[in-house]
Amino acid sequence: MNPSRPNPPPSRPSGAPFLGVGVGLRPKHYPHVLEQGLRGGLGVDWFEALSENYMIPGGSPPRVLDDVRARFPVVLHGVSMNLGSTDPLDENYLDRLARLIDRVSPAWVSDHLCWTGVGGRQLHDLLPLPFTEESIRHVAARILHAQERLGRRMAVENVSSYMSFARDEMPEWEFLAAVADRADCGILLDVNNIYVSARNHGFAPERYIDAIPAERVFQFHLAGHSEQGPLLIDTHDHPVKDEVWALFERAVRRFGAVSTLIEWDDRIPPFKTLEAHAARAREIIERVTAREDESRETLGGRAAGEPGSPRTVGGRGTSRAVIAPDGPAGRALRVGPGAPERPGS
Ligand SMILES: [Fe+2]
Repeated sequence: MNPSRPNPPPSRPSGAPFLGVGVGLRPKHYPHVLEQGLRGGLGVDWFEALSENYMIPGGSPPRVLDDVRARFPVVLHGVSMNLGSTDPLDENYLDRLARLIDRVSPAWVSDHLCWTGVGGRQLHDLLPLPFTEESIRHVAARILHAQERLGRRMAVENVSSYMSFARDEMPEWEFLAAVADRADCGILLDVNNIYVSARNHGFAPERYIDAIPAERVFQFHLAGHSEQGPLLIDTHDHPVKDEVWALFERAVRRFGAVSTLIEWDDRIPPFKTLEAHAARAREIIERVTAREDESRETLGGRAAGEPGSPRTVGGRGTSRAVIAPDGPAGRALRVGPGAPERPGS
C-alpha cells in the first residue's frame, strides 16, 4: 500500500488498531465527504465501506473510495459472504474481495455471522444460525477458508434476530465466542443488534456483553432500530436509542476504547447528524476510559509500566487506548504465507 495512507498501528487487546469513531461511506454524502475531507473539516475519524458497492471496477464509487482512503482509515464490511450457508463459498466473490482489499488496504475486513442464501438463491437478508456445536464446526471452517483466501484475519458480526431454533444448544454469546475461537477470527460487536435480540428473545443484554472475550473484539456498531408490535426491528433508520447508548457505555467499560461505527442505512440524515452521533460516542469512550484509568490509580492498582499493569498509548482523546499486558497486541492480523506483520499494511 501507499505508506502515506493512514492506518494506525495495532493498539488493542485484539491486535486491531483503535481508529476512533467512524461512519458508513454512503453516496448521499460523497460530495460533502470529498469537499470537507480535503479541508480536514469532518467530525469523524474513519469510514466503513460496503465491500459489494466497490467491487465493480469503473464508475465513480471506486474513485470516491480511493480519494477517501488517501485521507482516512477505511474498513471493508460485506453483506454477502454467506458464511453460514450450506452452499459452497462463492470463490468468485472471494477473488473480487481479495482484489478490492489489495487496492484499498483496509484496516480490517468484516462480514456477518449468518446465512444469506441457499441452493444458489440470494435471499437478501441476514438470517440467524442454529446455536449448535454442528453450526460452530461448519461456520468456523468456512471462516478459516475465507481468511486463508483473503490472506488476513477477518471479523464476524452478530446479527439481530426475530426467531430462534428449537435445536439451540447454547445462548448466542457462547456461540459467537466459540466460533471466533475456533476460526481464530475477530468480532464486530453490534451493540444495537445485541439490544434488539435481547428484547425480542427476553435475555439480559448485559450478559451478552459480559461474556464476549475482549481479545477478539475489533469493532463496535451503533445503530437505530424500530418497534413493530412486540418486536424490535434492526432498521438502521433512526437515531441510536438511549438504551443502546447505555449498553455501549457498558461495552466500553468492559472492552476499553474500540473502533466504533455509527451505522445508518435508510432515511440517511444530513452528515452533521452522523457527526453529532460520533461526538457522543467519542465523549463516552473518552470519559469511560479516563475514569477506568483514574480508578486503577486511586484503588492502588499497579502503576502503568509495572509488570502485569495495563498501559495507555497515545494522548488523550480518540487515539487513546488501553492495552492488556498479556493480550496478543501486535500479533499479525493477517494469516497465510508472506503476510505482513501489521494489519492493513
Ligand atoms: Fe451492524
